Amino acid sequence: MTETEHTAARHLEADLARIRAAYLDLMGDSLIGRLNEDPPLPASKVDGYRQDFREQGWDWPSKAPSMIGARRMSNVRSECERVIREDIPGDFMETGVWRGGACIMMRAVLKAYEITDRRVIAADSFSGFPTPSEAADAGFEFATFEEFAVSLEDVKAAFARYRLLDQQVVFLEGLFKDTLPAAPVEALSVLRLDGDMYESTRDGLVNLYHKLSPGGTLIADDYFLFESQRQAIDEYRSAHRIADPIIQIDRFGGYWIKAT
Ligand SMILES: C[S@@+](CC[C@H](N)C(=O)[O-])C[C@H]1O[C@@H](n2cnc3c(N)ncnc32)[C@H](O)[C@@H]1O
Repeated sequence: MTETEHTAARHLEADLARIRAAYLDLMGDSLIGRLNEDPPLPASKVDGYRQDFREQGWDWPSKAPSMIGARRMSNVRSECERVIREDIPGDFMETGVWRGGACIMMRAVLKAYEITDRRVIAADSFSGFPTPSEAADAGFEFATFEEFAVSLEDVKAAFARYRLLDQQVVFLEGLFKDTLPAAPVEALSVLRLDGDMYESTRDGLVNLYHKLSPGGTLIADDYFLFESQRQAIDEYRSAHRIADPIIQIDRFGGYWIKAT
């Protein structure tokens, strides 16, 4: 390659990085409802759109596909980008997708990097939370909230609106205890647990953690918010002697990178 060709290639690479970042920035803002200042659902008990709440994912947007807020959405993106950069093998998966927003970001990252040999696995009942059956979930109130019951059809429609519905997205419909033991996935590089409850978090860990590649990321959406999720995570980490440090994302979320 001549010096001129080298320079042209460097410029092209820089342009690509800029366009990729612009796409993913806009995607994140849209997915959490910051772009259009989507007001909160009444069940959030918050008056009107608040930038600081949306930053932390405190309220639930009326229409936007994700409730996780700016910082946790940014963490989804950056961990997906990191495992691609570091060549950590495996698909991306979320257990607990609601309207699909975090999974849409995962698929958008694959698109931005033109990756066709990884998939996004989206697991949910697509009918809301189960009735609590474990003592640790006693009093968990969201099981009765109809706002959490988003159908598979509606989630697919959200992917389609972002032009990201294709064979690289796999939907696992049903309760985790039924779908995760036989989940059609061999290796994961990002595993995001967002089922809030003790039972939902435990079922995710027991059935999927061994599939997470060394160097991959385990994201616990509500580790610092819900005692139920924290208990399931702490029990599993202790039983399996996992000492990888938990990094706090925002007020509520945490993640760790599985030791290599
Ligand atoms: C907090 S929402 C997920 C939010 C989503 N990740 C986002 O980006 O906005 C929790 C979801 O977990 C699902 N869920 C919780 N426990 C479950 C279980 N045991 N089996 C199937 N789905 C479950 C609920 O249906 C709900 O859609």
